[in-house]
Amino acid sequence: MKVLVTGGAGYIGSVMIQLLLEKGYKVKCLDRFFFGKETLKNVISNPNLEIIKDDVRWFNPEILKDVHAVFDLAALSNDPSGELDPAKTYDINYLGRLRVAKLSKEYGVERYVLASSCSVYGFREKILLDERSPLNPLTTYAKCNMLAERDILPLADEKFTVTVLRQATVYGLSPRMRFDLAINGMVLGAFKHGKIPVMRDGTQWRPFVHVKDTSRAFITVMESPKEKVNGQIFNVGSDEQNLQIFQLAKMIKDTLEIPVEIEWYGSPDKRSYRVSFNKIKSMLDFKPKYTPKDGIMEVYEALKNGKVEDTIKTRTVEWYKHLLETHKLLKEVLMRDVIL
Ligand SMILES: NC(=O)c1ccc[n+]([C@@H]2O[C@H](COP(=O)([O-])OP(=O)(O)OC[C@H]3O[C@@H](n4cnc5c(N)ncnc54)[C@H](O)[C@@H]3O)[C@@H](O)[C@H]2O)c1
Repeated sequence: MKVLVTGGAGYIGSVMIQLLLEKGYKVKCLDRFFFGKETLKNVISNPNLEIIKDDVRWFNPEILKDVHAVFDLAALSNDPSGELDPAKTYDINYLGRLRVAKLSKEYGVERYVLASSCSVYGFREKILLDERSPLNPLTTYAKCNMLAERDILPLADEKFTVTVLRQATVYGLSPRMRFDLAINGMVLGAFKHGKIPVMRDGTQWRPFVHVKDTSRAFITVMESPKEKVNGQIFNVGSDEQNLQIFQLAKMIKDTLEIPVEIEWYGSPDKRSYRVSFNKIKSMLDFKPKYTPKDGIMEVYEALKNGKVEDTIKTRTVEWYKHLLETHKLLKEVLMRDVIL
């Protein structure tokens, strides 16, 4: 069976593709490769992998003809990147994904899984949020997720199985490393400067999930009976991995056993949500295998052994800004499509 992963060269996608190939699936990776192709270097020579460099907004739908399932991950993938150009975020994260879903249905793809985010819950303290809770998206990124969910779920029918996965904040190692994610970034700060950056005021709640676990959740959904997952939304994570940011910083300090200080930054975070993961556990028997402590140690060891580097590409919004600025500069000097 062939699975098309949009955004397959990204932080989650590059781990997911590895898992899919290990399980014997054939994979098509559709990506703009904003972060380069080297994120797929571990799998690039695998004959079961086909790479398509294209954009979700205009790719040729013929590529969907022999595809059984689509995992739709391509997006500007966090709040600050989503604010760089909100109209483009709307085009990619909402309309782009709606296009992928509609074309998938038209071309006979049987299953479609949307990579959404628990950030659609926005700010809700005191209560444990589940899939039926009202949404409160606070940013362009979160609003686009909500719109994509709203318009893609009704495409579900007997022949087209649609599932939305609201992922918790992800952590852990990936070939396309992201240090702009809370756990990874805090470990980097501890390693590099002996300081754990903590966004004020530290009491905000966030759910977390390891990158291998969230990748496995997509595969679990695809392998589950249609009647269990069709038209369904699942939060992806586990109740025990709801943490307050300050609590997380303390966990990192205790786990690493090196002298570190807490470094406060930013104005108080308006996003805070505690999420229930009971549905995915009870309906699909899905339980994460990894804990934040596993992720902390794995990232720390990789930094220590030089297996992962802190480059601008690991900070999503900075990299997109850099691409936009470089484009502007090049446009000013290019003539006849050349520099010199
Ligand atoms: N990482 C998290 O903590 C997290 C949490 C919740 C939800 N999500 C969602 O999961 C998905 C994957 O996230 P990630 O962390 O792997 O992000 P990422 O930025 O590492 O990967 C996104 C990939 O999409 C590609 N892409 C972007 N725009 C494209 C376009 N127009 N056409 C084709 N490809 C395009 C990029 O080149 C990149 O490889 C995203 O939809 C994100 O919003 C991520």
